[in-house]
Amino acid sequence: MTENKETETPLGAEAEGSSLTDQEEIKATILVVDDEPELCRALSKLLNRNGYQVFTAGNGEEGLMILRQETIHLVLSDLQMPRMGGLDLLKAAQVISPATEFVIITGHGTIETAVEAMKVGAYDFIEKPFSITTTLKVVGKALEKQHLLAENLELRRRLDEIQGMHDIIGNSDVMRDAMETAKQVASSTATILLTGESGTGKEIFASAIHRWSDRSKQSMVRVSCAALPETLLEAELFGYEAGAFTGAVGRRQGRFEIAHRGTLFLDEVGEMSLTTQVKLLRVLQENTIERLGGGEPIQVDVRIIAATNADLSLAVSEGRFREDLYYRLDVINLELPSLRDRGDDVILLANFFLHIYNEKNKKNLQGFSSGSLDALTRYSWPGNVRELENAVERAVVMSKGEFISSDVLPRSVLQGRQRFDSLNIPVGTTLRDAELKLIQATLDSTNGDKETAAYILGIAARTIYRKLQ
Ligand SMILES: Nc1ncnc2c1ncn2[C@@H]1O[C@H](COP(=O)(O)OP(=O)(O)OP(=O)(O)O)[C@@H](O)[C@H]1O
Ligand SMILES: [Mg+2]
Repeated sequence: MTENKETETPLGAEAEGSSLTDQEEIKATILVVDDEPELCRALSKLLNRNGYQVFTAGNGEEGLMILRQETIHLVLSDLQMPRMGGLDLLKAAQVISPATEFVIITGHGTIETAVEAMKVGAYDFIEKPFSITTTLKVVGKALEKQHLLAENLELRRRLDEIQGMHDIIGNSDVMRDAMETAKQVASSTATILLTGESGTGKEIFASAIHRWSDRSKQSMVRVSCAALPETLLEAELFGYEAGAFTGAVGRRQGRFEIAHRGTLFLDEVGEMSLTTQVKLLRVLQENTIERLGGGEPIQVDVRIIAATNADLSLAVSEGRFREDLYYRLDVINLELPSLRDRGDDVILLANFFLHIYNEKNKKNLQGFSSGSLDALTRYSWPGNVRELENAVERAVVMSKGEFISSDVLPRSVLQGRQRFDSLNIPVGTTLRDAELKLIQATLDSTNGDKETAAYILGIAARTIYRKLQ
């Protein structure tokens, strides 16, 4: 950046830019790259007067350096320059600063290259000599586009974060097995029935299977079969023509149609009425749907993932669920393990949620106290991962110290621990073994604190040491 005195200083940044901040906000930051100092000066003066903060550079290399250091919304760049030219700068900018827009400055005879630059991704070009109005107009439009671009990138980043959030956490053998099966069956078109207690992750498994399948470019459409009464559920699933029922004003596509080429997630399928079950079975057999209120049969290509926390085979034997539909759905059954059977996954998940809710609540809790961790691992989690997630969220919000202590855990979790505080010693146990068991259990309840355990047991601490040996 030393070869050209005129273009070396970030013009607007120091001089005119700073006076601007007093009066009004700077609109955007623009980098002007041209090997003609005169031109740089004229352009930055014009842009500065219009409220932009301007940096200048005499060639692509200098431009790149500024792009690395500053947040630049828009680059106005010449094409032919000594050292790095405008086209190369454009390509580099797309890598190091993807949210920056690019406008080409063209002289005579470079229009073709300018067009080429636009094919690569430049937004527009301005021709020398400039007209002030055209220049400002192009700059304004390019910045508008840049704003959208930046918003889009931000949205995508957040979406990635959310999807990352819904990654399946689990390291226990049962969970690894479940994930492996899910990956294996994802690419087939077979119907999958996800079973498992409430909160075990059936929905995130359904999304994951969809994402791992070759239908992932289309969407996964979810219908909760429990939330709607019969006719509304059918309208939701199959769509309707105008006048199909009172209130059906226009025609509407059903979820089956919307999910075409994608996945349809039938959540809580056990709650579906017997009449709707018949209709669903027919659709699954014929791969066509008919909207309520008539119309032609419509061909649909949909992969079904169904989920239930009910025992469907029991429902079949009790006549609440059609046997033929059950077999049709249960082509591949994936049973998700309960949290209490997942061993150390509780700790893994607790820390995962701690991280998430730290971020959400702008907190910086370092972890769990040994007592709280103990309570978390002893509890039986009837509400599974959902219950754990809620407990950690609450604990994060309520915690004042550096670590989550047991007093911010829900009472159910702490009481759950009590259940393990009584011993069941079968008749036939020797007195010695019974004594050992009681000492162990007491030590567990004090998190290994021998002094306190001795106090509770009414013996001396050294007696505990001795008995344990
Ligand atoms: N293995 C996991 N890793 C991370 N988060 C999980 C995991 N399993 C479940 N969750 C989270 O727990 C919550 C409950 O999961 P989900 O909704 O998938 O359960 P479900 O089995 O569909 O429950 P229900 O039968 O009550 O509908 C969600 O917030 C989900 O993101
Ligand atoms: Mg669910």
